[in-house]
Amino acid sequence: MKDEFVKVCMVSEIYSRKGRRFQLDDENEIALFKAGGNIYAIDNICPHNHTAQMYDGYIENMYIACPVHGFQFHLKTGEQPTKEGCRLRTFEVKIENDIVYVKKPSEKRFDFKF
Ligand code: FES
Repeated sequence: MKDEFVKVCMVSEIYSRKGRRFQLDDENEIALFKAGGNIYAIDNICPHNHTAQMYDGYIENMYIACPVHGFQFHLKTGEQPTKEGCRLRTFEVKIENDIVYVKKPSEKRFDFKF
């Protein structure tokens, strides 16, 4: 399972600043966003209150804000602006022939180190 990329959608199916959710596998629901010309994959479940609504968040300066309580997480690192507190899981993305592939995570859904 390590280094396994999953075909998710076409690049043209992701619109700027508007998130879309996809099921990566049995355990992982992700949200894809386009920002600054790149596509980012994040966990659709917010690490704050475990609400599956990150796809409906809004982007500001490369941070995605959860629509529930407004916590912000960096699209690439998943860290909050303070670099403290809970961290959102992010996933590696690759584009081949206009198809978006997302790497399955090797870590478990919840990382209690944070
Ligand atoms: S559930 Fe996302 S900030 Fe609270």
